[in-house]
Amino acid sequence: MEVTVNILVGTMTGTAQLCAQEMELALDDGETKVATLMMDGLDSTVFSREGVFLICTSTYGQGDVPDNARALYEDLKAKRPDLSRVRYGVFGLGDRTYAETFNFGGKRFDEVLTELGAQRIGERHTHDASSGVLPEETALEWCQDWLGRVRERLSQAA
Ligand SMILES: Cc1cc2nc3c(=O)[nH]c(=O)nc-3n(C[C@H](O)[C@H](O)[C@H](O)COP(=O)(O)O)c2cc1C
Repeated sequence: MEVTVNILVGTMTGTAQLCAQEMELALDDGETKVATLMMDGLDSTVFSREGVFLICTSTYGQGDVPDNARALYEDLKAKRPDLSRVRYGVFGLGDRTYAETFNFGGKRFDEVLTELGAQRIGERHTHDASSGVLPEETALEWCQDWLGRVRERLSQAA
């Protein structure tokens, strides 16, 4: 079954983008098509694209989404579109040093998408920059496992 994955990237200093590039390389083959979109300039209509969505975002400020993700996040909150047809995953980046707001960027997207009726596939990944493990390495294994779950879910629905 052909699957399209839209990776939406929220980043401040490029780490999430690097992870998205690795995931695109790992997933994009004949059967899986990947479109990687920086969140800059996107609004909630992006969720009308064909395919499943992978939110790949870091966390800034005091548990905020990165600056380039703000417009998309705010638009979802304001317009509250019906996203019941949307299936998504979350690869979040953060740092446990920020104990009170660890990985809140991914968490905020997860919460708003769920509120709007979208269904998450798999667990939300929470990378910890203070762990010493590089996120782009974790990303490879995580995204392959996630795609397996996506395929399982879509074949059940077919
Ligand atoms: C100023 C600043 C604020 C941050 N705030 C948080 C935070 O509240 N919670 C968290 O989990 N990580 C926080 N982080 C950690 C980043 O999310 C983490 O380093 C991430 O890997 C950066 O990814 P990026 O390069 O894609 O933006 C913060 C980092 C900086 C520099």
